[in-house]
Amino acid sequence: MASITLDHIGKSYTPGVDVIRDLTFEIRDGEFMVFVGPSGCGKSTVLRMIAGLESITSGTLKIGDRVVNDVHPKDRDIAMVFQSYALYPHMTVYDNIAFGLQIRKIPEAEIRKRVQEAAETLGLNAFLDRKPKALSGGQRQRVALGRAIVRNPSVFLFDEPLSNLDAELRVHMRAELSKLQRRLKTTTVYVTHDQVEAMTMGHRIAVLRPCGKDPGVSNLTQIGTPMEIYDTPANLFTAGFMGTPKMNLLKARLSDDGRDVLCHGVRMPVSEAFRAAALQHRGRDVVLGIRPEHIGAAHEIDWQSDCGITGTIEILEPLGHEVIVHFQVHGETVSGRLRSHTALPAPGDPITLKVKTEAMHLFDPVTEQRLS
Ligand SMILES: Nc1ncnc2c1ncn2[C@@H]1O[C@H](COP(=O)(O)OP(=O)(O)OP(=O)(O)O)[C@@H](O)[C@H]1O
Ligand SMILES: [Mg+2]
Repeated sequence: MASITLDHIGKSYTPGVDVIRDLTFEIRDGEFMVFVGPSGCGKSTVLRMIAGLESITSGTLKIGDRVVNDVHPKDRDIAMVFQSYALYPHMTVYDNIAFGLQIRKIPEAEIRKRVQEAAETLGLNAFLDRKPKALSGGQRQRVALGRAIVRNPSVFLFDEPLSNLDAELRVHMRAELSKLQRRLKTTTVYVTHDQVEAMTMGHRIAVLRPCGKDPGVSNLTQIGTPMEIYDTPANLFTAGFMGTPKMNLLKARLSDDGRDVLCHGVRMPVSEAFRAAALQHRGRDVVLGIRPEHIGAAHEIDWQSDCGITGTIEILEPLGHEVIVHFQVHGETVSGRLRSHTALPAPGDPITLKVKTEAMHLFDPVTEQRLS
């Protein structure tokens, strides 16, 4: 069994300065877990602690049933692939893939079998005799993956392995990696700051942020399936971080009877999901979260709404299949989505768009947590 259990894990590089604080969760056996979060929030640090490349300052780390805090990296049965997948330039692709097995004194016949299998899986058969310099970036990346999979480890750790590839290759390799993991069923932790990778690749996502100075705050903001994270963000950080374009997070207030949300003079009925919470918080300030895809032109939308929000257009972003429109409403910028490219308004024009109020999210502006 190769679950990974983090129990109150903490890390300080400098005494008194926490980089990781109070991380507690489990990565299940066979699971593909994605770590996502802004630059510097500690994603690589956590991965390196799991790999044993970085010491653990506090807490307990288990792989399967074994506490591994003080276990040497080579005894953890883990294979790691980094963003810069340094291959040995003087060795052939075959030897690059085989090297990790050769130093472990695996019999040559067994090595040949495993390398052949990996090459088959990764589409590298034709390149086994080449040196890395005669390969494309994507092919080199596959060699680095091959090196990891021939070891048949209990855990794969990936630290932004696709970020050096061009957009098209990334999309391709993303799908290949997902397929590979589903076939091998090897417990996997995958670090990225690419939202699309996070949403599409993992069984679950752990959304991390810098833990800051407040001793009560952990790096973990939410953990869940991609759809849970997208549909029910637990707090303002996750709400603002996951989704492109970003969710609108607007100053608002609940009416005194708790039935409506008042936002820039627009009165919107509280959605069913928040009815009980809104009653509890009636009359109070809230943050209203609405994704841009839930704000659209009356003649283009497929939902019923009497709630129009009016402002002045700042900028239009044509994305090909749609146009994102950012408009000013009483000093706040609101983003919505237009489907049609014809008869587009221009910056400076007034615009009124309809809000899909059933898709609202409500947060407490003080605790920053989703109202529940
Ligand atoms: N060896 C080190 N010594 C001191 N501080 C470090 C060390 N390694 C990382 N840090 C600090 O720890 C924090 C977390 O770094 P880490 O590399 O884990 O972030 P990350 O989430 O992987 O970021 P990125 O997305 O940019 O790769 C950063 O503030 C970084 O400056
Ligand atoms: Mg990193």
